[in-house]
Amino acid sequence: MGFFITFALLKKTKTKFIIMIKMLHSTWAFLTVIMLVVAVVNAIISLTSNKDFKQKDLRIPLFALVVTHIQLLLGLIVLFGSEYYTFLLDNGMGESMKNAEVRLFIIEHPIMMIFAAILVTIGFRKLKNKSTDKEMFKTIAIYYGIALLLVLSRIPWGQWF
Ligand code: HEM
Repeated sequence: MGFFITFALLKKTKTKFIIMIKMLHSTWAFLTVIMLVVAVVNAIISLTSNKDFKQKDLRIPLFALVVTHIQLLLGLIVLFGSEYYTFLLDNGMGESMKNAEVRLFIIEHPIMMIFAAILVTIGFRKLKNKSTDKEMFKTIAIYYGIALLLVLSRIPWGQWF
């Protein structure tokens, strides 16, 4: 009896935790998109107006990088606690791929977002090897710009709003 009560309580706690992380993933997505937009827009404006690369121009993409990585971690937790993952376990990969919604959340959304985070990481690391301010702004504009497009392409807009 004690075992079943403990099990039921643990299950309830796990569900609450997943709901909380799901809400956080949904809210943090705003910050992620905003930070990527700010980094790209700042890089393009600075590039076109020949501005010097200042400390804030490094801080903005760094903050965007950290925010994106946190979103990635939240996404991983959400994924393994989601009904989509349960569907995959119950029905297998073949059936999951036939279902457009499950396919989006199991494959398309995670892979595209991980790819976007990799681009942001590579872009930020490449800044170290650049010798001119123009090259630095260009690197941010390209890597963060493509990452932003990937993120925007696989956000489940209908479900989000
Ligand atoms: C930059 C990275 C990411 C962004 C901007 C992002 C954004 C979003 C947004 C806006 C939603 C809809 C939330 C809602 O329904 O209110 C969502 C849902 C979801 N995301 Fe992400 N995500 C990212 C990364 C990831 C990653 C890496 C994974 C998995 C490894 C993931 C897994 C999921 C899952 C499973 C859902 C569906 C949650 C549910 O309704 O059960 N996400 N994401």
